[in-house]
Amino acid sequence: MLVTMRQLLDEAAVGGYGVAAFNVNNLEQIQGIMEAAQETQSPVIVQASRGARSYAGDNFLYHMMLAAAETYPDIPVALHQDHGNSPETCISAIELGFTSVMMDGSLGEDAKTPLDFEDNVAVTKKVVDIAHARGVTVEGELGTLGGMEDGVGSGEICLTDPAQAEEFVERTGVDALAVAIGTSHGAYKFSREPDGDILAMEIIEDIHRRLPDTHIVMHGSSSVPKDIVERLKAAGGEVDAGFGVPIHAIQRGIEHGVRKVNIDTDGRLAITAFMREHYRDNPDDWDPRGAGKAARAGQKHICLQRMQELGMAGHAGDYTAMSLEDMAARYAQGVRSTV
Ligand code: G3H
Ligand code: 13P
Ligand code: ZN
Repeated sequence: MLVTMRQLLDEAAVGGYGVAAFNVNNLEQIQGIMEAAQETQSPVIVQASRGARSYAGDNFLYHMMLAAAETYPDIPVALHQDHGNSPETCISAIELGFTSVMMDGSLGEDAKTPLDFEDNVAVTKKVVDIAHARGVTVEGELGTLGGMEDGVGSGEICLTDPAQAEEFVERTGVDALAVAIGTSHGAYKFSREPDGDILAMEIIEDIHRRLPDTHIVMHGSSSVPKDIVERLKAAGGEVDAGFGVPIHAIQRGIEHGVRKVNIDTDGRLAITAFMREHYRDNPDDWDPRGAGKAARAGQKHICLQRMQELGMAGHAGDYTAMSLEDMAARYAQGVRSTV
């Protein structure tokens, strides 16, 4: 069942849980996510980066994502553009049929150079006007993550200022706000188990107090599981992996308004570990479906865990989908929340 991210996150706020947004690039990732969502009865966000769209091709990727919603009519699925770098990227996602877009105006169009506050407000507001007229949800970002992922990111961490966040949401009308609290994309986030000096959870608490109706998004939220990293290495792989975001930190965020939790790296690591084990244990398998099944199982393995840990499990049947037209009509009346 295709839903907007606004409705999916509004319902998560009512239920007091977080929703994982899993990045997808191919069929096996989408199937792994959906098998886990079906088994745990979880609503889910399936998201595509610009890199994913260019890897798979817009038409292939969109139709595989749409097939997820069509194949599982009882599971709410939002189709989301991750880290849109310009209004053009977001508009093309809306035209494809995504029900949600992220305008990441924390960085310029090169997805590297930090943008100043006024420019971020202007570019995000432009996308909100276009998206809301079509009923599509918008996520903005204030502050910058650390690290670089395939050229995405400035490499500099600039934590979100809660007072600025309040002004940003008022001026742009975004539905969800990605905040920078010290995390980075990728497998190497921290050199030690992150504590309060590294992860600024109090920023989330402050923003939630100021903006109780805006859904907070945590990027760079992979936990980089030690067991998966060890399996990947034992099967012949190499990865420079540090500490990830502990599940208890995500759960604390959820208690304070985090509703969307972005997870890409954990799926990538598990897929690679499972595929390497498959080839190690079956050197004579030259049918790519064997490795494809392993990839699907790797993605599913992570999703099953996160769906339980974030509290999404069991909430798929809580609501029916509002149409994009309904959403557009509500936005036109100045209503953001669906509950
Ligand atoms: O933006 C970060 C996500 O992990 C997507 O990564 O740009 O390599 O697809 P990507
Ligand atoms: P990870 O690299 O921690 O999985 O973060 C993913 C993300 O934030 C995608 O936007
Ligand atoms: Zn991200």
